[in-house]
Amino acid sequence: MEIKKVGVLGCGLMGSGIAQVAATAGFDVTVLEVDQKYLDQGFAGMEKSLAKFGEKGLIQETPQAVRARLKGTTKMQDLADCDIIIEAVIENVDEKKKLYAALDGIVKQDAIFASNTSSISITELLTSTQRPERFIGLHFFNPVPLMKLVEVVRTIATAGDVYDTGYEFGKKLGKVPVRTSDKTGFIVNRLLVPYLLDAIRAFEEGVGSIDDIDNAMKLGCGYPMGPFTLLDFVGLDTTYYITHVMYDEFKERRFASPPLLKRLVMAGWYGRKSGKGFYDYSDPNHPKPNKL
Ligand SMILES: NC(=O)c1ccc[n+]([C@@H]2O[C@H](COP(=O)([O-])OP(=O)(O)OC[C@H]3O[C@@H](n4cnc5c(N)ncnc54)[C@H](O)[C@@H]3O)[C@@H](O)[C@H]2O)c1
Repeated sequence: MEIKKVGVLGCGLMGSGIAQVAATAGFDVTVLEVDQKYLDQGFAGMEKSLAKFGEKGLIQETPQAVRARLKGTTKMQDLADCDIIIEAVIENVDEKKKLYAALDGIVKQDAIFASNTSSISITELLTSTQRPERFIGLHFFNPVPLMKLVEVVRTIATAGDVYDTGYEFGKKLGKVPVRTSDKTGFIVNRLLVPYLLDAIRAFEEGVGSIDDIDNAMKLGCGYPMGPFTLLDFVGLDTTYYITHVMYDEFKERRFASPPLLKRLVMAGWYGRKSGKGFYDYSDPNHPKPNKL
């Protein structure tokens, strides 16, 4: 099956990135939002990003030519003739299922439905449609225009040709697709989350200070950033939420939130976005470790 027209649900951080990447790859893209103001915000972000890519000579066409393939809408009917729908709305099972159920009766029957969810089971989402065999996960990474990976998620119900189309579509977007199955966390979070939580436990147990642990992992392992810098970047609230979903699925201590993470979240110290987390961002260019 050939994909020509792409529908994206949600024009937030991830939806706008996915839409931009799909338009850059030559697809016609329609983005659905609940309100025009979110489309305006998302499109302003895409235009700014495309202009930067244009200046650096990283896109084949002008930013305007890519922009011309992008449309925003608040009407589900405008997605009726899409070949693939990529959902990137808020991380809430009921909200996602409601949206899939409504679109199932509108979007053409052979279209593929994909979700960018980080933690919700793809199998649970597909139960809200009459097209379980045409449902996959396409898990992108933030910021989508820069991060090369897409995890392509298969459920027990996914048809082989649908899965292959999703995998090839990932390549056409200029990403490197990896195959994975519908197990909470997929590949990256399955391995990354216990590592980040272990860094917090090591700090709690006095193994090293926040900046020493960060420097150790950066310089000793060649990681682009240490675990506490990464935790503050991802958001401590988001990480805390994911620990619950993963612990609930596997019931293993390595996925359980350490007490310090819970306390930081209760105090509203979410990391970079709230100005405080493991580091203090009063001077954003020179974050200082907090005394915890
Ligand atoms: N933020 C990340 O780093 C990251 C990485 C990978 C995957 N994800 C996943 O991507 C999804 C979106 O995350 P985000 O960070 O972009 O969130 P976000 O809050 O930035 O964007 C979500 C957008 O969805 C819109 N929305 C909500 N309900 C809608 C509906 N019924 N129809 C259309 N639009 C609707 C909201 O108005 C909002 O603009 C989540 O499932 C998340 O787990 C996020």
